Amino acid sequence: MRFLSTSEQQTFSFAKKISKKLNGGEIIGLVGDLGAGKTVFTKGLARGLGVKKTVISPTFVLMRVYSLKRANIRWLLHIDAYRLKSPKDLLAIGADEYFNRPDAVTVIEWADKIKKILPRRTRLITITHRKNKSRIIKT
Ligand SMILES: Nc1ncnc2c1ncn2[C@@H]1O[C@H](COP(=O)(O)OP(=O)(O)OP(=O)(O)O)[C@@H](O)[C@H]1O
Ligand SMILES: [Mg+2]
Repeated sequence: MRFLSTSEQQTFSFAKKISKKLNGGEIIGLVGDLGAGKTVFTKGLARGLGVKKTVISPTFVLMRVYSLKRANIRWLLHIDAYRLKSPKDLLAIGADEYFNRPDAVTVIEWADKIKKILPRRTRLITITHRKNKSRIIKT
C-alpha cells in the first residue's frame, strides 16, 4: 500500500492506524533517509499500542523497550541501527531475544543496515522523503 503523507501529524496517524492491525510477534523495518520520518512513524505506532511514555529516538542507546498493558502485546522494542558498526552489536545487547517473542512488536529504524540478522518475516516499510513535507510511505 502507498500512502502520501503531507505532514508529521499524518505520518503519526497513519502509523497509529497500522498499529491496530498488529497482533504481537511482528517485526517492522523502517527504511528511509535522515529526517524521513521513521521516528515520527514509531511514535505513532507506539501511541496506537498504548505507550504513554514519550518515545525518544534510541540513536545513542541502540534500543529502548517499552512495556505495554495489553493482553497480547506486552513489549514494544524500538531499535535504531544508524550508528551500529556491525549487526552483531545488536545481538550482543540481546535484541534478537525479542524477535521471536509472540508478545513483542519490534520496530527498527535503518533496518536496511542490519538486513543480515533480520528474520525473513520482517515487514519493511519505506518512507521516501519528497520535497517540503510530503513523504511516500510504502507498506
Ligand atoms: N510528512 C511528514 N512525515 C513525517 N515527518 C515529517 C513530515 N513532514 C515533515 N516532517 C518532519 O521531518 C522530521 C522527521 O524526523 P524523524 O526524526 O522522524 O526522522 P527519522 O527518519 O527518524 O530520521 P533519523 O534518520 O535521523 O532517525 C520531523 O522534523 C518532522 O516534523
Ligand atoms: Mg529517527
